[in-house]
Amino acid sequence: MTSDTSIRERILVADDEEGLRELLSDLLREEHYTVATADTGTAVLKRLESGEVYDLLLLDIKMPGVSGIDILEQMRASGNDTPVIMITGYGTSSNAIRAMQIGAYDYLMKPFDNEEVLVTIRRLFEHRALASRVRQLEQRSPEDRMIGRSPAMRDTYKTIGLVASSEASVLITGETGTGKELVANIIHQNSGRKGTFIPVNCAALPETLIESELFGHEKGAFTGAMAQRKGRFELANRGTIFLDEVGEISLPVQKKLLRVLQESEIERVGGAGAFKVDVRVIAATNRDLLEEVRTGNFREDLYYRLNVVNLHMPPLRERRGDIALLVEHFLSKYRYKPTAQPTRISEEAMERLETYDWPGNVRQLENEIERAVTLSQGRVITSQVLNLGTAGQPAQIDLATRVRNRDGLVAVLAEVERIMVQEALRQAEGDTNEAARRLLIDSSELAARMRALNPELAEA
Ligand SMILES: Nc1ncnc2c1ncn2[C@@H]1O[C@H](COP(=O)(O)OP(=O)(O)OP(=O)(O)O)[C@@H](O)[C@H]1O
Ligand SMILES: [Mg+2]
Repeated sequence: MTSDTSIRERILVADDEEGLRELLSDLLREEHYTVATADTGTAVLKRLESGEVYDLLLLDIKMPGVSGIDILEQMRASGNDTPVIMITGYGTSSNAIRAMQIGAYDYLMKPFDNEEVLVTIRRLFEHRALASRVRQLEQRSPEDRMIGRSPAMRDTYKTIGLVASSEASVLITGETGTGKELVANIIHQNSGRKGTFIPVNCAALPETLIESELFGHEKGAFTGAMAQRKGRFELANRGTIFLDEVGEISLPVQKKLLRVLQESEIERVGGAGAFKVDVRVIAATNRDLLEEVRTGNFREDLYYRLNVVNLHMPPLRERRGDIALLVEHFLSKYRYKPTAQPTRISEEAMERLETYDWPGNVRQLENEIERAVTLSQGRVITSQVLNLGTAGQPAQIDLATRVRNRDGLVAVLAEVERIMVQEALRQAEGDTNEAARRLLIDSSELAARMRALNPELAEA
């Protein structure tokens, strides 16, 4: 009936009444499910025993010979946990109860309407998808996404393990790019909390908007408030709110925030009253918050509320042992084509990476490797391709300073060229023709410039 059935769930419909079998299989095929049918219980068992796999069995409870209940019992006894929905005759609730007790997902009572059947099945598949996602998240240990085996990182994993499932507020401190947001995310994923992880970058929100961002507002609360809007706290209900750069919040908003934390209640701007929310708070800052407390820019009581547990992310230069591991990780993450082998790195380049100071920490290392990979196109990365020295983000060139420093026209132009070539390759995901188009040069010129920038390419 349809062509794309192969990707949809497989459902086995078993009923001894031909009319009902046809009605159900037509209905399900129209919804693009893949449907098989059986007219007796014995036929169902035969299909299962021959190794056929389904995502759902729709079983009539009453079939001559082997009943739906018998099938379900045998399946569960043999460790087959394929979901089963029972079809029961009108008024036979005792059978329905029995079916649920031995592990049916649900039952449909005859006569049922089509919508009821479809809703029940859709809900089942949604539950399954959700459950498997939760299992996936549970199985993924922090170490899988957080790279590092240094003593400092081991301490971090330990603290995450200890605090994740508690309600305690966590304050994550550390320099830029050390992985504060990543840690916050991992804490949430391991917390067992059912809600969402909602990050808020407090530094990026203008003072006038932050309150309504955090707490929401009612329609007409201020000019421009055209409709009611939920705040981030409300969105994070039953989940986690991540207050990034919390040190940037103004004193009046700090006061409101403190109240929310104390009462677990929020009130929308222009709202009629407060209501309860259940939100785990994780905050992060790269400022010295205690110093801000001392100078009166940050409320002391709020500081202690947020800092129930402190997690300090050490800068990369204090755990150089992790650099090689991180490099390997990013080399394989940014291989120049999805199918390519990870690029390799020369020993002298690795030595450069391991001794460099990394003011932008892991983020800077990640950017550096990403750019180096695109420029080396699968060949060994040498130290010439690395762009160390300029900190953090894609290098910004302050020309006035460079002239004052007497860096020289030739050197600075070469640097500009390398940055533009690398950036174009990055934006084009390694496609040299596309990168050349972005630079308004033809691909042979780009190839020549790349060879000049990276002698490794020329040797090939
Ligand atoms: N230990 C790690 N293993 C793998 N990736 C990491 C690790 N630490 C950080 N990263 C990666 O580095 C980048 C920066 O991390 P993140 O955004 O968490 O840093 P941050 O401390 O929040 O920085 P900022 O203070 O600038 O906001 C992200 O892409 C993150 O996935
Ligand atoms: Mg961050």
